[in-house]
Amino acid sequence: MQIQFLDASAPSPARLVARLVNQDAVPADLEPVLAEAAKMARFSGKGGQMFEGFAERDGKVVRIALAGIGAADAKDRSGAIEKAGAAIVAKYLVSGEAELTLDLTGAGLSAEEAGGALLGAVLRSWRHDVYRTKLTDDKKPSLDRILVVGAPEGTEALWEIEQAVATGVAFTRELVTEPANTIYPETFVARCREKMDGTGLKIRVLDDDEMAALGMGSLLGVAKGSVRPARLLVMEWSGGAEGGKPVAFVGKGVTFDTGGISLKPPAGMEDMKWDMGGAGAVAGTMLALALRKAKANVVGVCGLVENMPDGNAQRPGDVVTSLSGQTIEVINTDAEGRLVLCDALTWVQREYSPTRIVDLATLTGAIIAALAHEYAGLFSNSDELAAALSAAGEATGDRLWRFPMGTAYDKQLESPIADMKNVGGRFGGSITAAQFLKRFIENDTPWAHLDIAGTVWADKPGATWDKGATGFGVRLLDRFVRDALEA
Ligand code: BES
Ligand code: MN
Ligand code: ZN
Repeated sequence: MQIQFLDASAPSPARLVARLVNQDAVPADLEPVLAEAAKMARFSGKGGQMFEGFAERDGKVVRIALAGIGAADAKDRSGAIEKAGAAIVAKYLVSGEAELTLDLTGAGLSAEEAGGALLGAVLRSWRHDVYRTKLTDDKKPSLDRILVVGAPEGTEALWEIEQAVATGVAFTRELVTEPANTIYPETFVARCREKMDGTGLKIRVLDDDEMAALGMGSLLGVAKGSVRPARLLVMEWSGGAEGGKPVAFVGKGVTFDTGGISLKPPAGMEDMKWDMGGAGAVAGTMLALALRKAKANVVGVCGLVENMPDGNAQRPGDVVTSLSGQTIEVINTDAEGRLVLCDALTWVQREYSPTRIVDLATLTGAIIAALAHEYAGLFSNSDELAAALSAAGEATGDRLWRFPMGTAYDKQLESPIADMKNVGGRFGGSITAAQFLKRFIENDTPWAHLDIAGTVWADKPGATWDKGATGFGVRLLDRFVRDALEA
């Protein structure tokens, strides 16, 4: 979706015009018939409302859409504006119209709010149609540009930044949507190389031999059943103080999770193509940070493996030695995400001494039982980091809910043969998973774990996404970087 800013005085040849309407403030310059029709349709400008009418302008029929943004002092004003931008695109994406004029005149928005409306619009336009060879013309997206008139001063400059974020979200969605026969560890890396070429991101890749030499026995144990070799992908963005220690983002990148020998049941197993959603979010965030030239030092690490059952796969009861030296009894080969993350966490701490670590992982089904699809789970050893992430979540809509941690939960991980086992008991599964990861955080480095199993994929359309990949995490981490590192 292209965004073009036009001078309000330029004559508009528009066939389709959209406006954002404040609560009880249908624009005074609207044709009286439209204003009356909107009223008859009970459109008042409330957030979430939409109205469509037609008017004759310069002898031509023009389609006019009104999207409500609610009251100026409403609690989630920016969210309402973003959703209105998104709702307009959702309505006209396959309408047959190629161009939409978004007339912001008189809406009383700040530049940030106008940028938010555009971000909502562009995010909602994303689709992945590469495997559809039989889409009929009337089902194909037609809308490809939005002409913005009446944007407040400064919107264009802000849009440059928001556009970088939208591109990052789109990249994450692409990685998450692609099936596991196209995205596996090697091709995940290749896709990132391609996308990040020329952005200034420095990419490092460890292959399976290098990881074996280092002693990453936990991550590599998961990959043993797969013919696809594991990779550790590292993306460095150095936009901050020279030599300054970075913040680390670490993603679970299980490109397909069959469960391994602890095989998952068939129903819904296809969902496990998006078990790399944490790694996808890290890659999309790094792309966004580079495109908007963030003034911060950030390193993104993705632990990439495929979890398959095979004659060579690891077995329940196997003991593996992690990079940290700690040994793990693998009780359940389906609790593989933590086995991948722990080595990635140790590696990034040894290599970069990060000031803070945030890991993202589609780690447990239990987090979906607890929070459904509205919030991701947040686990942290630092109140300050947890608060900063929570605030970024509220601001962007990638919302987080903090869970408790503690030694009482940690006890569940005791093993009769090794330093720990990889699963706890029947209850509190998301918390014991977090306790497992915490054992790999050194020197009390501020660390947060985000369990995003419930928020990466949507079975029905949301405000700023169609059904499918949501891109969860990119906007969250981008905002965290802005507020915690760049402010
Ligand atoms: N990738 C799954 C978690 C998951 C489940 C994500 C459903 C999205 C939807 C993870 O690897 C897993 O299998 N977790 C197990 C852990 C259990 C064996 C302790 C789970 O949640 O059942
Ligand atoms: Mn699993
Ligand atoms: Zn998994």
